[in-house]
Amino acid sequence: MSRVAVRPARPEDQEAILAISRQIWEGEDYVPQVLDRWLAEGGLLVAELGGAVVGFAKTTELAPGELWLEGLRVHPEHQGKGVAKALAQAQLREALARRPRAIRLATVEANAASLHIAGELGFREVARFFYLEAEVERPSRAPALGKPDPQGAWEFLRASPALAEGKGFVGLGWRFRPLTRELFWELWEGGGVLAVGAPPRGLALLAPDPYTPGDIAALAFLDGEEEALSALLLGAQGWAAARGQRLLAAMVAAPWLFTFLRRHGFEFVPELGAVLVLEYRG
Ligand SMILES: CC(C)(COP(=O)(O)OP(=O)(O)OC[C@H]1O[C@@H](n2cnc3c(N)ncnc32)[C@H](O)[C@@H]1OP(=O)(O)O)[C@@H](O)C(=O)NCCC(=O)NCCS
Repeated sequence: MSRVAVRPARPEDQEAILAISRQIWEGEDYVPQVLDRWLAEGGLLVAELGGAVVGFAKTTELAPGELWLEGLRVHPEHQGKGVAKALAQAQLREALARRPRAIRLATVEANAASLHIAGELGFREVARFFYLEAEVERPSRAPALGKPDPQGAWEFLRASPALAEGKGFVGLGWRFRPLTRELFWELWEGGGVLAVGAPPRGLALLAPDPYTPGDIAALAFLDGEEEALSALLLGAQGWAAARGQRLLAAMVAAPWLFTFLRRHGFEFVPELGAVLVLEYRG
């Protein structure tokens, strides 16, 4: 068997990368939508076997010192040959050389190969979420959601049982970040902080999905009293509809929110299992 060689991606790898991506998840992979950006910003590695590109992986700095490993893909014909392992090892080596504050990734419980590789490299589970999605429908009656006072919203978040359940992380689509003040302000500036009442009786955080912003709204956080949650869901639907998005994608850690969203028409894919957030612990 020939040895796997890992190197930084070059613009001329684009076709090979797209050809791999087309074979993943029946062509539903998001990589084609972000590839131009990934090639331009760097942090994209490819793996070669016998001189052909057969896999790739991306490292992204989500916030200063906060590295996120994503987009690990291996052509189905070359899976099981150690290609992903070689890519992940190279990614980790490069990430550690940057002396980051944290290196994290997410994968689903069903992805045994990814979990095995990450575990061997020293990643440990730090939070566990469930992914649910619903079609966006423009609500017929828009709820009266005031623009929240940022201090009140921040205090609500800090005291939130739902945030504690997610160990302080929020899922912006499939990218998870600790909810710092900086991230809160980013979401605030994007108009993605919705609240019911002042001080809030319920709060939601929304952002365009980082991979498919035109298509998916990420419901990154939701908590509050039942009646407030219903108003927030309508608000979230309106928020996504106003942006022309097709799907509302929620990452929730709390079982009561899972139940609430299921009752409100959100679908869950049981085959995937939970979404695990892993962090490098050495
Ligand atoms: C997941 C994926 C990247 C793995 O790529 P790969 O090149 O086949 O992986 P490797 O051959 O390097 O390593 C697989 C490892 O997982 C192990 N593994 C595979 N299936 C396993 C299972 N069911 N349970 C436990 N370990 C398993 C293998 O034994 C091997 O480990 P070992 O070398 O210690 O024996 C590839 O299947 C893929 O592209 N899948 C679709 C996209 C995807 O899921 N990406 C990850 C998103 S987080």
